[in-house]
Amino acid sequence: MNRDNKEVKEIIKKGYSKISEKGCCGSELCCDNSKTNVDISKSIGYSQEEIGNVFEANLGLGCGNPIAMSTMKKGDVVLDLGSGAGFDAFLAAKRVGREGKVIGVDITQDMIDKAKSLARKNGYENTDFILGDIEDLPIDDKSIDVIISNCVINLAPSKRKVFSEARRVLRDDGKMFVSDIVLLENLDEDKKKDDELLCGCVGGALLRNEYLRIVKESGLNFKILGEDKEISKEQYNGINLESLKLEISKSDNFVEKKSEGNGCSCCCSSGGKSEDRECIDG
Ligand SMILES: C[S@@+](CC[C@H](N)C(=O)[O-])C[C@H]1O[C@@H](n2cnc3c(N)ncnc32)[C@H](O)[C@@H]1O
Repeated sequence: MNRDNKEVKEIIKKGYSKISEKGCCGSELCCDNSKTNVDISKSIGYSQEEIGNVFEANLGLGCGNPIAMSTMKKGDVVLDLGSGAGFDAFLAAKRVGREGKVIGVDITQDMIDKAKSLARKNGYENTDFILGDIEDLPIDDKSIDVIISNCVINLAPSKRKVFSEARRVLRDDGKMFVSDIVLLENLDEDKKKDDELLCGCVGGALLRNEYLRIVKESGLNFKILGEDKEISKEQYNGINLESLKLEISKSDNFVEKKSEGNGCSCCCSSGGKSEDRECIDG
């Protein structure tokens, strides 16, 4: 029997509540236990300095480094979708400085409590962590300069709602930087029903092209910044998937920069230009 969206969210809250104590590897809910949170973070693109920033906030849960991909600057208001213990939010807080602000939204109370406690302990006065659902954001319209999200949207039952909410809260010239797990072939039915695979960012993941299509159909444009296929054997026991890194915008005004890491770089606008098919189907 298919689980409804409410059940899926309860499984996720329970799973991430456990993970909030020890991180992904300590919880045995996901990932290869031979790897530490530091090993995982290095393999997905964090520098030693970034890893050491607020060490306890790194639970080894990401699948990329959205801070490194982003164009955030001093004074920006940043929103982190599914902020966990605040690892990326604290790095973003350094980038935006005292005149800026970082808001983390997470559905798991224990993650919010942990992030708030680490913010207090480490003197981050420009961060705020709010309990909430990324499918129904507790954030005002057009109030955000930069949205980041690291390995979270795959967990939301309705990716369409997430991107529609992102569009609503983003300023017209705002940007979104996402790294997320997408499938390169369909999962079999048993794997789709597996709670550990759901919490482990696989069970709820969409096929790559379907994911990109939803971004476009939500009235957003995207540029592919990277596609990390190595992560499949590094963290996901060889399941045929990748970490997709996207820059997303309401306009189609992308700054030309060299693609980071492995993979291609191409842009797709929601206006239906000819390169769209190539990008989505390629
Ligand atoms: C894989 S972890 C990533 C955490 C963080 N981004 C990082 O890289 O450390 C996923 C996080 O998303 C949160 N989450 C899952 N579904 C959510 C939803 N619908 N709304 C808000 N947060 C959600 C979980 O509670 C968890 O903290």
